[in-house]
Amino acid sequence: MRPVIIAANWKMHTSPSDAGELARTIAARTREPHVVRVICPPFLCLAAVGEALAASDPEVAIGAQNVHHELAGAYTGEVSAPMLEGLATWVILGHSERRRDAGETDELIGRKLGRALSAGLRPIVCVGEQLQDREAGRADAVVRNQIEGIFRALEAGNEARSTVVIAYEPVWAIGTGRNASGADAAAMTGVIRAGLAAQGFVAEAEDVPVLYGGSVTSANIGEFLGEPSIDGALVGGASLKPDEMAGIVARAAITAAARLGQPAAR
Ligand code: 13P
Repeated sequence: MRPVIIAANWKMHTSPSDAGELARTIAARTREPHVVRVICPPFLCLAAVGEALAASDPEVAIGAQNVHHELAGAYTGEVSAPMLEGLATWVILGHSERRRDAGETDELIGRKLGRALSAGLRPIVCVGEQLQDREAGRADAVVRNQIEGIFRALEAGNEARSTVVIAYEPVWAIGTGRNASGADAAAMTGVIRAGLAAQGFVAEAEDVPVLYGGSVTSANIGEFLGEPSIDGALVGGASLKPDEMAGIVARAAITAAARLGQPAAR
């Protein structure tokens, strides 16, 4: 049975002076059973968030928003996987904002994936089509190609790959207030799992959690979690708002309890 995961992508928001307090507030407002919570602050805020959560709610996992594809070297301004030890246990890879602004390709994201897995970081690998792809009926093909390009180089025997999480984030839904429909997102989880199976994840493809991301709020999270094939959300703007996170995680707890065959805690 797949877990229910709510991951907060704080993007380029917060600073070391305020991130710890925000993380502590969100943790306190989202203490629900059986929901995997992850907060991904900027690199500079990882230590502050780590300290705040260690003292208040160590169950909340901490993720980075990116990692370099090499272990060390002349890469000015970059952060490698070994540097994240003790600071993060998860990492977002291939976010569309990095594809757009840093020119990340599927092949490069695949190399980052290998580094992340070797370092014991749990990756949230992002895929998603542009608006013109969806309008032209190419969304499925684009996402299938991304999965193939990212996972092509990952050896079938890599045991760490069972930790992989995918986030389906249609680019046109990110930061726009225009979310995909639950049905469309659910259809894409089928494309993603078929793509993973084609890359050798044959037995495990159905076990890989697939999250939805793109203008998720407490008001629309139910549309996604009502789909049995969707396992949670990667939340951007709303993840900086404790009220929103409280509502999102409370709704996730209902799905998590149902999956476990338990009555919801409330
Ligand atoms: P928004 O929730 O702000 O649309 O961002 C989604 C996202 O990019 C999460 O990674």
